[in-house]
Amino acid sequence: MARIPQSFINELLVRVDVVDVISTRISLKKAGKEFTACCPFHDEKTPSFTVSRVKQFYHCFGCGENGTAISFLMTYDHLGFVDAIEELASIVGITVPYDETSEPPDKTWENSRNILKLANQFYKSQLKNHPEASVAVDYLKNRGLSGELAAIFQLGYAPPGWSNLYDKLAINSESKTSMLEAGLVIEKDDGRSYDRFRNRIVFPICDQRGRVIAFGGRVLTNEKPKYLNSPETKLFHKGKELYGLYEAMQANRELESLIVVEGYMDVIALAQHGIRNVVATLGTAITEDHLTRLFKLIKQVIFCFDGDRAGADAAKKAFKIVLPLMQDGRQVKFLLLPEKEDPDSMVRRCGATDFKERINNAMNFSDFLFSKNLAKCDMESIDGRAKLVNISLPLINQIPHGIFREMLLKQLAGFGQIDVNTINAVNHVDNAVNQQESVVNNIPQRKQKTSGLSGFPPVRRVICLLLQYPHFASLRDDEQNWSHLKLPGAELLAEMFDILNKNPALKTAAILEHWRERQEEKFLFKLAQIDLEVSEKDSEKNFLATFDFLKQEMIDDRKNNLLNKSKTNQLNQDEMIELNKLLKTKIL
Ligand code: UTP
Ligand code: MN
Repeated sequence: MARIPQSFINELLVRVDVVDVISTRISLKKAGKEFTACCPFHDEKTPSFTVSRVKQFYHCFGCGENGTAISFLMTYDHLGFVDAIEELASIVGITVPYDETSEPPDKTWENSRNILKLANQFYKSQLKNHPEASVAVDYLKNRGLSGELAAIFQLGYAPPGWSNLYDKLAINSESKTSMLEAGLVIEKDDGRSYDRFRNRIVFPICDQRGRVIAFGGRVLTNEKPKYLNSPETKLFHKGKELYGLYEAMQANRELESLIVVEGYMDVIALAQHGIRNVVATLGTAITEDHLTRLFKLIKQVIFCFDGDRAGADAAKKAFKIVLPLMQDGRQVKFLLLPEKEDPDSMVRRCGATDFKERINNAMNFSDFLFSKNLAKCDMESIDGRAKLVNISLPLINQIPHGIFREMLLKQLAGFGQIDVNTINAVNHVDNAVNQQESVVNNIPQRKQKTSGLSGFPPVRRVICLLLQYPHFASLRDDEQNWSHLKLPGAELLAEMFDILNKNPALKTAAILEHWRERQEEKFLFKLAQIDLEVSEKDSEKNFLATFDFLKQEMIDDRKNNLLNKSKTNQLNQDEMIELNKLLKTKIL
């Protein structure tokens, strides 16, 4: 992929103002030097989201979200990095230069995308023009679909025959390879290829940006298998993708919740009835990847499963996956449909109003948890109540710490007719034994507001001060060779000084952008938001003193190094001069 030069990102972040960018999307209030609002990334009643014009950086003390103007657009508008840069550049009216000389783009991805796009066009045109298309069109009409809906979901038709698509698109060896890689054709042992989708209605599956990455195909009769999907490819992973997500995002500027159903036709039938916030898994159970993706977009997920054995099993599976993801601010509900119904049949039989009401009345996560367990216990006896507590605790313990978890514990205590402190005490002992379990729980904990530099080793202290007051870098103008410093973090410090020496006008955010996607990213963002609790003047003194201390350390290290070398007469001319100079230098 073409790269955007870092120098352009520096320049861009000098020109845009993070306060302006954010305030076009949420309303900010001025509070002292900073701006505040209720955090757009988690639910809250009192504002803990702050934006700093000086640092060009935002941070939420509640959920820990933080970042630059670029990060904000990536998170809030769900843009990729490049798109976020493009958006910012368009705000200030400059063009993004792409560094074409850097790594060449991977052609095979590009080729797969292109061939899938062409295949999509082909299938769509066949639904309109193929002599036998009326069978497919009638089938869709019979299922209650309008032409408009078919167009929105780009439904197509793979006509009968072994090689319609292949004959059309496999024009050279490159396109043949691409068709194979994209899963559009299947190669036989004799090396000949045939179309994967034949005599089926075709559903293109899009990524979040609307690019076709795979297809599903349904038979028009009662043949088996009813559905065929593209195989796993570079572009398509069933455990990550959700059918209808792009279309749902297109239909709703402000998505608040998404309904997760089991089938393609469920998504489409609900859309036909005006319910446009629906996605489907692709013949697999819901995964953690799916949910992580969904919770980045919305706060509420409603699982809607078919009213059959498989649906009930799917609900149980979903419940287990969801437990460790239930941090505060996220909501999950379960809707189990009546026997023999799926969302498609349900909405067609009872209409949109009824369906929406069912969604509104869907079972809360907590009710799902308790009703399942209550049914297993005789609540009239101590034994039964103890059983309830014992089987429920391990589940609740998987939920990240927070209000929701505390409330569940309290409710459990109510059911068990036991004091919540007793539960907590027993739980505490168990947890100490099961330390491992909490490690598995990889949800970020709420971050404490850290403050002050006390206890920081000197390198970290200087890095932190530079992030908060980038202009300190120019207070000591002689360039240091920090690579001689033998302390952890010295390389990072050297890089930061280097960046600031070359670009003295950078603000915090622009410095941080140099570490995007790098190991130290999180650590640096944390340092950038620490409350120093002292005046700028005092911070400056602290910086100078620590800087001088480090410089002395570095000189001493280098000096000792050269002295050792000189004992065995290994110094060259330059090193001798350097040593002489060093022996005369004293900073502290
Ligand atoms: P369903 O059989 O519930 O699908 O399978 P559906 O959408 O209700 O089907 P119809 O069109 O109304 O009869 C749910 C999902 O499981 C996958 C598909 O993704 C389907 O949408 N599936 C099902 C397959 O991959 N292959 C199959 O043979 C059947
Ligand atoms: Mn169905």
